[in-house]
Amino acid sequence: AAAELEPYQHYMQKEIFEQPRALSDTLTDVLEISPELFGDGAYSTFKAIDSLLILACGTSYYSALVAKYWIESLAKIPVQVEIASEYRYRDSVPNPRALVITVSQSGETADTLAALRHAKSLGHQHTLSICNVATSTLVRECRHSYITRAGVEIGVASTKAFTTQLAAFFLLTLALAQTKGVLSEAQINEHLQALRHIPSAVQAVLALEPQIISWADDFARMDNALFLGRGMHYPIALEGALKLKEISYIHAEAYPAGELKHGPLALVTSQMPVVVVAPNDALLEKLKSNMQEVRARGGVLYVLADANTHIHSDKGLHAIRMPEHSGPLSPILHVIPLQLLAYHTALGKGTDVDKPRNLAKSVTVE
Ligand code: G6P
Repeated sequence: AAAELEPYQHYMQKEIFEQPRALSDTLTDVLEISPELFGDGAYSTFKAIDSLLILACGTSYYSALVAKYWIESLAKIPVQVEIASEYRYRDSVPNPRALVITVSQSGETADTLAALRHAKSLGHQHTLSICNVATSTLVRECRHSYITRAGVEIGVASTKAFTTQLAAFFLLTLALAQTKGVLSEAQINEHLQALRHIPSAVQAVLALEPQIISWADDFARMDNALFLGRGMHYPIALEGALKLKEISYIHAEAYPAGELKHGPLALVTSQMPVVVVAPNDALLEKLKSNMQEVRARGGVLYVLADANTHIHSDKGLHAIRMPEHSGPLSPILHVIPLQLLAYHTALGKGTDVDKPRNLAKSVTVE
């Protein structure tokens, strides 16, 4: 194992750094946007549906939450996202015109498979999976699929599977927008070009590692952390908190920044670092006032700021400047430093990064 890890210390680290390759592999066969990227007959399925129901667990669930923002904003199709283990056991109102999407790295997660079968038993016929394993049960049981090419993921904490799922969801967003006629071909091509640029943009973000290591030195001494984001970066805050919990055992919570004053602000002290995902988007000014609320209470901010946000390091504020802003694709870039933060914090704490206690890579039993 040591030889194949060179020059890395852990699979998780290797997998974080493989993301530019994983993303470009996931996009290699995409010559143009078309529903048929999701398999034969996808055009008629996309024509027939009026909404999406996305089912998943863990990190895959967070990729679905980002997708909801993309699909509603760009393809104008209503999206519901649900945790598989909740959906399978509750009474829901099936809409036969919904496209049921299951997302999974392994394609073998028991709850996700059961949720798919439950949806079918309720009469759902339109099914699609986004999965990293072409031969998995999930792919076999869905009518349509998109196979991500992250390659084998060994670290229990998912990294490259997540970002490639996001790439697949962005392709789906564009294919749906095309079928519904809500974006012009020129607009679709512009978005596709931006997606093709993502592997090199991720490469540039990976170069921030030394700065993240200095943050991790602080985090390794903390017992709690709060992650804030707004809009499509709220799921990125959730994913950042999950990564930190999973491998460093630090209690971490994520909140949509607008909810700060409805509870978590009561927890803010100098001993509770607050990570803020701060892209240069329409919500930036609101986010800045949320940051003020934290600072006014003695909280220490760790901010991932895009260029032109005018956020600079100061007393109680550590800022890392992201190399570039990439519009709707920004969640793919902002999650990278959060993966690195969890990884280096765990190293500082000496935990078993690739095999965290009590967790399994693939949860194939309930
Ligand atoms: C486990 C893994 C997570 C993963 C989740 C869902 O909890 O530790 O990293 O996100 O299962 O797995 P799936 O294979 O369905 O994406």
